[in-house]
Amino acid sequence: MNTPLLKNYRRDITILAAALAAVLNFTQCTPKQSAAVSSVPNTTPHEDPNKGLKDYFKNDFKIGVAVSMNSIRQDSALIIREFNSLTPENDMKVGVLHPAENTWKWENADAIVAFAQRHHIAIRGHNLLWHTQDAKWMYTGPDGKPASKELLLQRLRDHIHTVVGRYKGKIYAWDVVNEAVQDGEDSTVIYRQNSPWWKIFQSPEFIEAAFRYAHEADPAAKLYYNDYSSENVTKHRKIYKLVKSLKDHGVPINGVGFQAHWKINSPTQDALRTALKEITSLGLEVQFTELDIDIRVPSALTPNATALVAGAQAAAPVDPGYTPELEALQIAQYKKMFDVMQEYKKHIKAVTFWNVTDKSSWLDGRGQGGGAATATAGRIPRKAYPLLFDVNGQRKKAYWAVVNTVDEK
Ligand code: G3I
Repeated sequence: MNTPLLKNYRRDITILAAALAAVLNFTQCTPKQSAAVSSVPNTTPHEDPNKGLKDYFKNDFKIGVAVSMNSIRQDSALIIREFNSLTPENDMKVGVLHPAENTWKWENADAIVAFAQRHHIAIRGHNLLWHTQDAKWMYTGPDGKPASKELLLQRLRDHIHTVVGRYKGKIYAWDVVNEAVQDGEDSTVIYRQNSPWWKIFQSPEFIEAAFRYAHEADPAAKLYYNDYSSENVTKHRKIYKLVKSLKDHGVPINGVGFQAHWKINSPTQDALRTALKEITSLGLEVQFTELDIDIRVPSALTPNATALVAGAQAAAPVDPGYTPELEALQIAQYKKMFDVMQEYKKHIKAVTFWNVTDKSSWLDGRGQGGGAATATAGRIPRKAYPLLFDVNGQRKKAYWAVVNTVDEK
């Protein structure tokens, strides 16, 4: 904890946080006071035990959360109180649901849908086509060679018709295609090249087909293209080109999902505005589908981040934890992002958090800044604290900063 590198890092963060804290009004981080309690100092939270995020945002958009059977078992009361949309975190992914041609694993997906229906919570489906957690068997033909386009399309159609058909009328929106755009600065390479789908098709035909099959199976479901880093200027132009081409070809697409795996210093409000402006100009709706704000220090805030990681590995476990400085930065970033969402609320249909509380986030255990381990930056035991509920399921100050962005006019 006391290495020179960590001291530098703490100093960098402290300077930035002090500047931010100065502009942060503390009232943004406590509940707004009703007239009846206006004499209560606003440092004393007046929490209405019956109200949750879904109630504060009821005139704006749905507030959702990604769940597993574990999180439903552990946090059902909180989920029911706070959210009015649920996304299965893993249990509807193609490889999880359909691991072999004649094998279907419905148990968890059905249980999540039943839980949501019991509590009158809407359900988003995630997802129908992705290059990860996919069904590997689909890519090989009976002769052991790569499947033909025709066979792959037939399998895709069968999969989508079976899943979307099973939950027809119960799932209001589907992430039909997930992460099909190529990362990187080369703006001429739009489609993800290392996807098994791209390798077989060498064209976006499979993307168009997935949307058409989903629409055939449930014409009322809202169909989304979903991706991450959607606020990065190069990436969002590629996403724009992809969805515009779908629209131009008459493909039934309703919206774009911004995953929103954000950091305490990124994206900027202007980057988010630019991306929202472009996507909504196509007449598409938007959902923020996987929101979290990782507090682990991005390299832009600590020029010596790589060295810090190396030092941390040597001296593990190193975790500065949820310090007041990092908390202030996270609160400020949550407020900035929700302020922009308020500006675009007529286009935004739902905002979904990716996991329930800071006790368990998919980011924990991943490397510095949320990426997977690499040769130079291995996994270090630092928690991400990215959500609005702390490790004990209590509302954080960031919760109130978010709630207080609601425009009550
Ligand atoms: O279920 C197995 C378990 O049987 C096994 O013992 C264990 C050992 O590692 O693995 C378990 O599976 C893990 C699964 O999560 C369920 O916990 C996988 O290893 C792990 O890779 C998987 O991670 C998921 C990740 O997608 C896969 O890429 C995360 O939970 C999930 O939050 C994450 O979600 C994605 C979205 O779908 C798309 N956008 C990015 C987002 C974050 O990566």
